[in-house]
Amino acid sequence: MMSEAKLSGQVAVITGASRGIGRDVALTFAREGASLVLVCLRDQKALTAVQQEVEAYGARVIALIGDVSEVVFCESVYSASKEAFGVADILVNCAGTITRAPFEEMSLEDWHRVIDVNLHGAFYMCRQFIPDMRAQKHGKVINMTSQMAHMPHPSASPSYEVSKAGLTALTRHLAYQYAPYNICVNAIAPGSIDTDMPKSMTETARERLRNGVPMKRLGEPEEVGECALFLASDMSNYVTGTTLHVNGGSLMK
Ligand SMILES: NC(=O)c1ccc[n+]([C@@H]2O[C@H](COP(=O)([O-])OP(=O)(O)OC[C@H]3O[C@@H](n4cnc5c(N)ncnc54)[C@H](OP(=O)(O)O)[C@@H]3O)[C@@H](O)[C@H]2O)c1
Repeated sequence: MMSEAKLSGQVAVITGASRGIGRDVALTFAREGASLVLVCLRDQKALTAVQQEVEAYGARVIALIGDVSEVVFCESVYSASKEAFGVADILVNCAGTITRAPFEEMSLEDWHRVIDVNLHGAFYMCRQFIPDMRAQKHGKVINMTSQMAHMPHPSASPSYEVSKAGLTALTRHLAYQYAPYNICVNAIAPGSIDTDMPKSMTETARERLRNGVPMKRLGEPEEVGECALFLASDMSNYVTGTTLHVNGGSLMK
């Protein structure tokens, strides 16, 4: 017997959808019947490829290119989404960037850029989409943070950890404020997932990374996609203000 689609009739907005974790969130949600608004920074070709993949599931989809660190762009995502599909039910803030220079070598530009994208971008998107969720008394917001919000790591600049710790705090704040309106706001904190992001490290650093994980492997993006499905669907209606750690056991140490 076929199981029922878990997101049928739902509208999901996913930033960072052209590759990596965001792409797999999009594929998982499309498989489960959602209509999708896909966003990425500049890789039109990759986003079109994801769009075609999700259309193969029969999903309705629009794809938008722009920078979530710009308020005006986030406003335009909201307008386009509402025009295409009406009020959004699910917002996944997955767009993210990282720099790896150590504290003393990190430029001020890098400091600001990472926080602008990872924290301010998610904040702008929440500001656009949550009021409609409040009005309809239903919504799911998922913020992609990182295990680095919870422990320091030498492979990233401090701006990355700070941006994700800020996003964790924003997640809790919004969860508390909007709980009476039946809006669940949660974070997923991936550990080391095999996307382009860890690929920007040296092979030695990647090997060290793998060995440091109790499961002795990097995670797969689809393993994060399935967790996002849990938080986006009715399976988690009493879950809010929490962080789901998806890291092969890394935070146990
Ligand atoms: N991979 C990991 O091990 C890991 C671990 C912990 C947390 N995370 C978090 O999980 C999320 C996804 O990571 P990932 O590894 O899948 O990343 P990725 O493969 O590097 O993909 C990043 C995605 O974000 C988009 N993006 C970047 N800056 C943007 C901006 N300013 N405006 C709009 N879109 C933007 C990119 O668009 P373009 O393709 O157009 O550049 C791309 O779609 C990130 O927030 C990351 O911090 C990842």
